Amino acid sequence: MHFHSEVNIVQGVDIVQQVSKALREEFFSELNLCKDTSAVEQLRVKYLGKKGPIQDLMKSLKSGTPEEKRVLGKEVNDLKEEIASKIGETAAFMRKREIDEQLLNEKIDVTLPGRRSFAGRKHPVSAAMDEILEILMEMGFSVQYGPDIDTDYYNFGALNFAPDHPARDMQDTFYIAPNVLLRTHTSNVQARVMEQHRPPIRIVAPGNAYRNETITARSHVFFHQIEGLYIDKGVSFADLLSTLEEFYKKLFRADITLRCRPSYFPFVEPGMEVDISCLQCNRRGCSLCKYSGWLEVCGAGLVHPEVLKNGDVDPEIYSGYAFGMGVERTLLLKKGVSDIRLLSENDLRFLQQFDAI
Ligand code: FA5
Repeated sequence: MHFHSEVNIVQGVDIVQQVSKALREEFFSELNLCKDTSAVEQLRVKYLGKKGPIQDLMKSLKSGTPEEKRVLGKEVNDLKEEIASKIGETAAFMRKREIDEQLLNEKIDVTLPGRRSFAGRKHPVSAAMDEILEILMEMGFSVQYGPDIDTDYYNFGALNFAPDHPARDMQDTFYIAPNVLLRTHTSNVQARVMEQHRPPIRIVAPGNAYRNETITARSHVFFHQIEGLYIDKGVSFADLLSTLEEFYKKLFRADITLRCRPSYFPFVEPGMEVDISCLQCNRRGCSLCKYSGWLEVCGAGLVHPEVLKNGDVDPEIYSGYAFGMGVERTLLLKKGVSDIRLLSENDLRFLQQFDAI
């Protein structure tokens, strides 16, 4: 803008006033659309920045007369200040609103109940297994592990099972390949231990066992057993009985009586089923022992000479005993659980009833 006469000054003032009026209106309508501080900041840069319209107007005044500069300069400056102060005001208002909103969103209700952290615990079967092993270890046994998947030889052959023994049948045993199976008992550890260690051997072998059976309240297709094996010079039936009696007294914390019934297992001779006097009625007869007065707890016997030979142990020099107990069945008795299936269903309502160890 360049004005040379009084008339021109008046026209120049007019034009600048018109331009600034239009700018002012445009600014306010844009300001009205601003929703947050960043939009206001963009507007500030747009109008007051070095390349903005106010600066343009200022530049255009440079070539004017002193009088033009005075009149128009004030006009533009007023507009600049108005815009700057309006922007400052709006930005401050919006900043406060944004902080308020943020505070509201982040507000913590200290009266809400706290979230309880969930502490895990041992599964009752693991807890029972640990308790049994602890007692047996205190009594001098060390722990040995064997494979869940094993050969027919270790599960049956080495244990003196006849080739046509019914347990070897596919109806009873889960086969993976013709000679490979899921072990049906923890007795598969016996020959493995004898192959690796020379007597004296005094071990317990905990682990899973699998049988192709009908699932009932007392039987499952997978369960746990703990095997015991003691081989040394002069190990006798009396050693076996006293060991089992002491063990069950400790486990059930009761002064139980042991009863042995002859039974057949190909890997022991003589073999027996071991019962303890009923924990609930002490032999008077109740529903737990089905009015027999006795509870069946394990299979046991003296290690068969053939089994010792299969393990490269001389039966003329050494003798031994073995026992095998079901962990779930023991747990059913100890904790008064009525159905073995509850132990593998993972229902927290059931599991949480056990001690938090
Ligand atoms: C045996 O498995 C022999 N190996 C035990 C043994 C070892 C005898 C050493 C002599 C010397 P039995 O089939 O009886 O025996 O099983 C032993 C225990 O495992 C049973 O008393 C029972 O507690 C448990 N058991 C057997 N089958 C099942 C099943 N289907 N579900 C849950 N527990 C079972």
